[in-house]
Amino acid sequence: MTKKISFLLAILLSGHLLLAQNKVVLDLSKAKDTINKNIYGHFAEHLGNCIYGGFYVGENKSIPNRNGIRLDVLEALKKLKVPVLRWPGGCFADTYHWKDAIGPKSKRKPIENFTWGGVRENNAFGTHEFLDMCEWLGAEPYLAVNMGGGTVQEAVDWVQYVNHPNGSSYLTDLRQQNGRSKPWNVKYWGVGNESWDCGGHMTADYYVNEFRKYATMMTSYSNTEGLFRIAVGPGTEDYNWTETVMSKTPAKRIDGLSVHHYSVINWSAKGSATDFSEEQYFKTMSEAWRMERFLTKNSEVMDKYDPMKKVALIVDEWGGWYNVEPGSNPAFLYQQNTMRDAMIAGLSLNIFHNHCDRVRMANLAQTINVLQAVILTSKEKMILTPTYHVMEMYNVHQDALMIPVTVTSSDYVLGDKKLTAVSASASKDKNGLVHISLVNIDATKEQAINISLGDIKATAVTGRLLHSQKMQDYNSFTETGKIKPVSFQGASLSGGELRVQLPACSVVVLELK
Ligand code: AHR
Repeated sequence: MTKKISFLLAILLSGHLLLAQNKVVLDLSKAKDTINKNIYGHFAEHLGNCIYGGFYVGENKSIPNRNGIRLDVLEALKKLKVPVLRWPGGCFADTYHWKDAIGPKSKRKPIENFTWGGVRENNAFGTHEFLDMCEWLGAEPYLAVNMGGGTVQEAVDWVQYVNHPNGSSYLTDLRQQNGRSKPWNVKYWGVGNESWDCGGHMTADYYVNEFRKYATMMTSYSNTEGLFRIAVGPGTEDYNWTETVMSKTPAKRIDGLSVHHYSVINWSAKGSATDFSEEQYFKTMSEAWRMERFLTKNSEVMDKYDPMKKVALIVDEWGGWYNVEPGSNPAFLYQQNTMRDAMIAGLSLNIFHNHCDRVRMANLAQTINVLQAVILTSKEKMILTPTYHVMEMYNVHQDALMIPVTVTSSDYVLGDKKLTAVSASASKDKNGLVHISLVNIDATKEQAINISLGDIKATAVTGRLLHSQKMQDYNSFTETGKIKPVSFQGASLSGGELRVQLPACSVVVLELK
């Protein structure tokens, strides 16, 4: 063999090895679970400018609105197909008295929002505004009741006010006087929030007793489907909390267990949202990957007490958390959103899909102007973040049949640390279209991936890509479209195999016909 031929062979072989490093195998024969669309849920708290200035501008005539709700925001969220929206908190929920925020606005009781900056909360946005808005969005409301600072009776009255069909109590009379005769039939009810922390610093045993009491007293009414009661789960790897709630709550009282996980570098040094090093990026990715272990371990505990998986695991707060933007109120949690956040979103959604036998709802924190938002507003202006685009690209998976995937991935290496570089998930929708979502978290290396389709017959592949020159890039009010999905040309189909060339730090969604 001449030197030239062996050199060429070596190049070919190294190319082959590169291709062989990343492999994704789809197994349609094992598909049995549906990706619940509620995995694409959102979370809106009375915090900073999420509600006021974000969703709601009240009487402001210069910003087009419907009864105070911004029309630009409504339109953008409808395109996302938001299936469920959690409200009014968060920690705020455990200070919230819903009766302060109904009826004529001039008579509503202002309170101090002592959790988030001590600002005046005039209660202009209350139960009616929120539930009407959910109807316009086509989203199911998810209400969090005040267990920390409220009473069982308040929670019982709230259920009756929003769900009771006819006028057999003063609460339904009141609802009618306030302009709403038919009930909203709210299904999802969170009983407390982070009760191990801002919701009362309770022990797991104490919380369980409280939960049992609330869950018993909060009755459903004849013409509703029945309440879906969600208990507080852990926000750290405290599996003892999960064990206590699952083992000590009667099965018929609990429908969901909520967990929270934020991708934070370090709670006392969170770092800038836009000006970050590769080391900080790596740490964020490592925290995002931690979701996989957190869900696996919580599911294992739940399986012991609920092997039929009747109780849903609900990730009702997730996302990246950094320092606030310079000059903004530290209590308002306003942060920009870069390609790093797009990576968190794509990776987390893939993890949720692959756990959809147990994970049946997730709520990104938070929809507008707070933490990993999908929308940022500045007076009359509005921008869509990279996270918005990932959630829009991925929403083809809503209510589709999850196709199990086996991923063999190369490592993303930084110094002496490594992470799995490629993550994937797949589904088949009711029209027979197969979608595959791929994320490459490696900051500098592109990935060649072989995807084996097994029994799936496909004749054409198209795709959409989210990528930018730098992982620190973001959309701003002066450059609104710097990051947006573009058509992806890096996939080719040959026989039962797909070959994909995935750029560094990118998200791709493929569609097979
Ligand atoms: O999303 C911000 C806060 O984070 C929520 O209010 C609380 O539940 C969590 O600690």
